[in-house]
Amino acid sequence: MNNLFIKNFGCQMNVYDASRMAALLQDALGYRQVEEPAQADLIILNTCHIREKAAEKLFSELGRLRKIVAGHPVIFAVGGCVGQAEGELIFRRAPFVSLVFGPQNYHHLPAMLRRLEREGGRILANEEPPDSKFDALPAVSVGGPVASVVVQEGCNRFCTYCVVPFTRGREWSRPVEAILEEAAGLLQKGAREIQLLGQNVNAYQGVDREGIPHDLALLMQRVALLPGLARIRFVTSHPADMNDDLVQVFRDVPQLCPYLHLPIQSGSDHVLARMERGHSVADYLTWIERLRAAVPDIALASDFIVGFPGETEDDFAQTLELARRVAFDHAYSFVFSPRPGTLAATMADPVPPEVGARRLAVLQERLNAVQLAKNIARVGRLEKVLVEGVAKRGDGGEVTGKTPQGRTVNFPGDPSLVGRILEVRITEGLPNSLRGRLA
Ligand code: SAH
Ligand code: SF4
Ligand code: F3S
Repeated sequence: MNNLFIKNFGCQMNVYDASRMAALLQDALGYRQVEEPAQADLIILNTCHIREKAAEKLFSELGRLRKIVAGHPVIFAVGGCVGQAEGELIFRRAPFVSLVFGPQNYHHLPAMLRRLEREGGRILANEEPPDSKFDALPAVSVGGPVASVVVQEGCNRFCTYCVVPFTRGREWSRPVEAILEEAAGLLQKGAREIQLLGQNVNAYQGVDREGIPHDLALLMQRVALLPGLARIRFVTSHPADMNDDLVQVFRDVPQLCPYLHLPIQSGSDHVLARMERGHSVADYLTWIERLRAAVPDIALASDFIVGFPGETEDDFAQTLELARRVAFDHAYSFVFSPRPGTLAATMADPVPPEVGARRLAVLQERLNAVQLAKNIARVGRLEKVLVEGVAKRGDGGEVTGKTPQGRTVNFPGDPSLVGRILEVRITEGLPNSLRGRLA
């Protein structure tokens, strides 16, 4: 039997990669994905390196899994961004791992596994450029009404705290037709919403067969013409790569959901400069104004880092003020984590961990309060909900879906509703979701 267990960490790009690995291994070697590591013959940990203790987490997880499978022969493989960053080191600390590969090398999995079977030993693969894998991958099956398509990968921005340019490589955009074909295939198999993914998605610069350059706004207009497409979203955007066309498509493309994840990281120009984000707080606020003028009900999401080296109490107060001014619908926030190889890891004036932790708690409390208030403000409204699946809670009698603004809604209903877009009357606003009933 060829049983595959994949454990995934990190961002949506890793979720996408994992689904493509699974499809490839099934196609080429007949691997079947299983939910229990104890049943696996091949275990892949698809890792993330973005914040602290990524490597520690990996090794403790490897140790745990090794105990679970004790007794029968299993191939251990480490992929993803820790695989790329740590390479050989992983073999040294976990000698039972026989395969380490980076995010741009997983299309070689079948060949590498065959070689391991023939010759034994260990293989490290972390050198491929980002444009080689896509042509070598079979189509994925659809796992639900929402499907992702990578349009852009890697990053050239080198924000001083970030490992992504080192783990994912330089920025690269897929050609227009490759994206259209993949999206059309997913829609034919039943997907209703397409999420365009990129580390810095609004830096997309692809060309079509005629050599005509496409930015993200133009690409979306092309995707929107595909039959069967009900909704489209894109993540994650960078404020310095915003343009007016991208604001305009929110009005021009009816399927484009009124939702934008546009991380600001800090509300202080002094900190933004040390992060080398390439824009000011005023620039950011100008984009927010334009977006809200174009689409009054647009939902805005952000990421924040507190405790960046040199961040003063005054800088932090400016972050709180920015959060208050914009009133984000949703936000992720983190304490700065020094990453190996990045500029910020060796910057002067580190913020003591306890100060960072306190700032994070204060910021999160404010962000959560705004998010809850905004959720409560939806009560009484009719929302169009794309039903994505059966709700985790609710004993099977509830389904879960999303509003165009990206809010999760749970409501009583049976599994036959999955994939439909329904009008739901909102009855309750909770910290992270809404409740409702079919209208
Ligand atoms: N490409 C996206 C986000 C990539 S990582 C962008 O540019 O917005 C996702 C989030 O993790 C970042 O937005 C940032 O808030 C956080 N992050 C990245 N590196 C970090 C670090 N070293 N310490 C703490 N948070 C970090
Ligand atoms: Fe990292 Fe900055 Fe690139 Fe985002 S834009 S992936 S934070 S370097
Ligand atoms: Fe993590 Fe790599 Fe994504 S570091 S956030 S899995 S790009």
